[in-house]
Amino acid sequence: MSSPAPGWVLGIESSCDEMAAAVVRGGREIVSSCVHGQEAVHRPYGGVVPELASRDHVRAVHQVVERALAEAGIAAEALDGIAVTAGPGLVGSLLVGLSFAKALAYRLGIPMVGVHHLSGHLASAELADASLAPPYLGLVVSGGHTALYRIESDAPPGLLGETRDDAVGEAFDKVAALLGLGFPGGPAVSRAAEQGDPRAFAFPRPLADARGFDFSYSGLKTAVATLVERRGALSDAERADVAASFESAAIDVLVERARRAAKETGLDRIAVVGGVAANSRLRRDLAAAGERDGFAAVFPPMALCTDNAAMIAAAGARLLARGERHGPALNAYSRAPLAAAAPWAE
Ligand code: KG4
Ligand code: ZN
Repeated sequence: MSSPAPGWVLGIESSCDEMAAAVVRGGREIVSSCVHGQEAVHRPYGGVVPELASRDHVRAVHQVVERALAEAGIAAEALDGIAVTAGPGLVGSLLVGLSFAKALAYRLGIPMVGVHHLSGHLASAELADASLAPPYLGLVVSGGHTALYRIESDAPPGLLGETRDDAVGEAFDKVAALLGLGFPGGPAVSRAAEQGDPRAFAFPRPLADARGFDFSYSGLKTAVATLVERRGALSDAERADVAASFESAAIDVLVERARRAAKETGLDRIAVVGGVAANSRLRRDLAAAGERDGFAAVFPPMALCTDNAAMIAAAGARLLARGERHGPALNAYSRAPLAAAAPWAE
């Protein structure tokens, strides 16, 4: 049975190194959205340290939720439901948001649902563009995932292809580390690339000519590592050239897959979500390809691309409207396929 999207839903997201809370009304209107990042915590290590991430979440969760409620101008008692990321992600991190959500739902006597992190990312496109409705293509490009889906209204997302090894955001992060550009890597590589020549080095475009829609990023990352090792110390200009050449190879593959998917499926809209959707070259090149080939690329605003809780609240509101409820035994999952039923959806 389906009922209208519940009024006020609190979203909580803590799958990696962001603690986020947001209030969404009617499943579509973002009333508040707060994100507490941990860049300073992990920067000395050049990557996310799971144990430190969970500890920081424990410190932050209460404040972030209070801030989301205060910015929405409502008391917790006004909430109609709570949506919380149950996976995939770092289990220790997920458990912090999950335990807080359970306790709050219990105290308020309101329903709670566990949300798949990627259905949250996919929901961010419809949150940003009210005219976007299934069927359309959904491209998830983040630090942990690179996958292309067919989004339907009455079926789970259909997987068309996914990465066979590294995720594209992971490749950006690793190349940033190789080039000594710091953490987080994606924005740093992108900034360096602006000063470089994308044609300076011919990096591979893995699986460019393969059939199907799978991706592969480990070969590209290795090609950059080999070049950096061979060259030794790089000047700033060379570093910018490597960043630009890597970025154009990584983005070309995404654009090419999206073009072919639009052509082969006949779907003329593609929503691009996840942290790498913040990349300006991807935004520019995919929009240009769409103009040439007759499809529209939908990108959420930057704040909705990277991890946030508004997307979790929006995805959760749909589940709540369908009558889904998860109890106090809801667990956290490091892995969970999106196309199949989530492991927590009894
Ligand atoms: O969606 P997200 O915030 O977290 C995950 O669910 O993984 O994505 C984070 C990823 C990181 O790998 C980060 O380097 C990448 O998104 N990223 C970017 C940019 N901004 C963030 N990659 C390329 N260009 C960017 N501007
Ligand atoms: Zn994410």
